[in-house]
Amino acid sequence: MSWTYPERVLAHRGGGTLAPENTMAGLLEGMRRGFRAIEYDIMLARDGVAVVMHDPYLGRTVAGSGNVFDYDALELAAMDAGSWFGRAFDGEPVPLFVEYAGFCKAHGVWMNMEIKPAPGYNIETGGAVARIAAGMFADEIAAERWDVVPLLSSFSELALEAAREVAPEVPRALLMSELPPDWERRVRAVEAVAVHVNHRHLTAEQAQAVKEAGLALFCYTVNEPARAKELFGWGVDALCTDRIDLIGPG
Ligand code: G3P
Ligand code: MG
Repeated sequence: MSWTYPERVLAHRGGGTLAPENTMAGLLEGMRRGFRAIEYDIMLARDGVAVVMHDPYLGRTVAGSGNVFDYDALELAAMDAGSWFGRAFDGEPVPLFVEYAGFCKAHGVWMNMEIKPAPGYNIETGGAVARIAAGMFADEIAAERWDVVPLLSSFSELALEAAREVAPEVPRALLMSELPPDWERRVRAVEAVAVHVNHRHLTAEQAQAVKEAGLALFCYTVNEPARAKELFGWGVDALCTDRIDLIGPG
């Protein structure tokens, strides 16, 4: 199938840097600014329940210490993921993945779900995220509504392979900081529809090669409007931004 992004600009971690990342407050800030597509990160808690979380440890965005995997999901959901950003966000919880994704679906917000396994949990995390996504969007998958079905991405090829085993019908993207010489083999190996790269390392020639291979191309994380325009000129299909105040949706 030829796969395309439903939107060109995604709010990174829900609300970019205008609200605490990977929280409902961030998502609502993105929506308030007109974003109808987001990228966010998903990790498993100790009990195998998926939460919306970037770091595998507490301390940066979530008050506390230790690893995410030291806590059950409901324990994490009772923690403060907002006060690091500002007093107005005191007590903002770590979202449960199913609740966060369900809210996005109900409000027509398209999702790039980044599978972010804690070290050593690649397969479990890839499988869990894919299983939930496939279940939540079963009707849309059956109807081939690819404009609403989420895209699963990951730096972990093991996680993407596990996602493919569990739910081959949910589209996948391989995340790479920069394209290695064997990028196409690796993308084909996980049967990804898209290549996600750090825009800082991408060249116009590489962008052209990805497009000529018939793959979708996405850049993270683009925070300058002039750079976004340049990348779109190279054939980049979509990008995510932290500066949802400078680079608008659409
Ligand atoms: O999915 C794009 C981007 O979010 C990947 O890097 O570390 O911000 O999750 P990171
Ligand atoms: Mg991410």
